Amino acid sequence: MILIKRAEQNQVKGIAEITSQCFSGLKDLSMARQWTNCNFQAYPRMQYFVAQEGDKILGYILWKEKGGFRKQAVIELEQIAVDLKYRGQGIGTKIITESLIKIKDYLKIRGASLKLIEVTTGTTNQAQKLYQKTLGAKVETVIKDLFSGDEVIMIARFKK
Ligand SMILES: CC(C)(COP(=O)(O)OP(=O)(O)OC[C@H]1O[C@@H](n2cnc3c(N)ncnc32)[C@H](O)[C@@H]1OP(=O)(O)O)[C@@H](O)C(=O)NCCC(=O)NCCS
Repeated sequence: MILIKRAEQNQVKGIAEITSQCFSGLKDLSMARQWTNCNFQAYPRMQYFVAQEGDKILGYILWKEKGGFRKQAVIELEQIAVDLKYRGQGIGTKIITESLIKIKDYLKIRGASLKLIEVTTGTTNQAQKLYQKTLGAKVETVIKDLFSGDEVIMIARFKK
């Protein structure tokens, strides 16, 4: 059974392995571990969730709060990745939808609510379809040559 859970410190290594597999800028495993660890330490501004089956991490998502701990929270879907061997089975969809419920619960406990979600991805990345489907996000603009090419900024807006 695949479960979506808040990441724990002892999962930083497993997350970093998927990061280094999936993102060209973080191919070096020790850099990926450093990146993952510093994000992990930045809780609650940065929040990792993992998809796991038993002890095996199949994928992860990183949510990041922007502009302060606002009553009307602005959150970025900073990164999502699923191990190559497990793609196309609905795990990415499950990670987004189930972790988003946990983010909304966290905000509610803080006395805040979700205003919008921002997500950027490559103009040719099929993840755009995933964000449209799971978040209702729409492309609002394109940034030229951001990381390794042009990136779209997608926004999902939520009612007050
Ligand atoms: C984006 C990503 C997380 C999706 O994970 P996933 O577990 O494969 O996602 P799902 O199985 O839930 O599929 C979601 C959609 O992606 C598409 N998709 C999934 N696997 C695909 C494949 N092998 N080829 C083409 N499209 C695919 C489908 O359109 C699917 O939509 P559907 O539900 O209408 O069929 C995964 O492809 C990944 O890790 N990519 C590398 C990292 C990355 O680019 N992250 C996003 C930018 S930060």
